[in-house]
Amino acid sequence: MKRLIAGIALLTFSLLVSAQEVTYRKHIRPLWEDKCERCHGSVAPYLGTFAEDKKAYEADDKGPRMDSYADLIFFIGWPDTGAIMRRLDDGKHTKDGKAGNMYQRLGKTEDERQANLKLFKLWVGEASWIMKKPGEITKEELMRIKTPY
Ligand code: HEC
Repeated sequence: MKRLIAGIALLTFSLLVSAQEVTYRKHIRPLWEDKCERCHGSVAPYLGTFAEDKKAYEADDKGPRMDSYADLIFFIGWPDTGAIMRRLDDGKHTKDGKAGNMYQRLGKTEDERQANLKLFKLWVGEASWIMKKPGEITKEELMRIKTPY
C-alpha cells in the first residue's frame, strides 16, 4: 500500500511537472544536490584534472565536477556532448540496451529513478535525449537542446 501511494505520488508529480517548464534552478539543481553533489560537487576536480588521475579520483568516489549551471551543461551540449544522456539513460536509448552507469544514482527505487530521469529528459528536451558524442551530433541537434536556466 505504501509503495502504491508513493507510486501515485510520483506519477502525479511527474504529470504536474510535464505541464510546466523544467528549469535548472527549480528542478534540476535540487535533484542534483540530493543525488549527485556528493561525488560531483565543489571538491571534485574539473574534467581535465579528473582525466589525469581517473583511478585515484574514482577510488575516492569523485567524478568530474559539475556544480554550477555552466559546469553541468558542459556534459550535455559541448564539449562532453551527450555524457549526461549516455550515463543517465535507463537503457531505452543506449546502443547496447543497458542503462548508463549513473542511472542507478537517480534514486533508491525504480519509481524514483524513472521520475528523476523524466525530469532530466524534460529539461534537456525529449527530442534532444540522444546518445551522440561530439563529432557525431549535428549542429541542428545541438541547437535543439533546451536546458532552461
Ligand atoms: C557515489 C559517487 C557518484 C554519484 C552519487 C554520482 N556519480 Fe557520476 N560519476 C562518478 C564517478 C566516480 C565518475 C567517473 C567514472 C565513470 O566515468 O564512471 C562519474 C561519471 C559521471 C559522468 C561522466 C562524465 C564524463 O566524463 O563523461 C556523468 C555525466 C555523471 N557521472 C553524472 C552523474 C549525475 C547526473 C549524478 C546524479 C544523478 C551522478 N553522476 C551521481 C561518481 C558518482
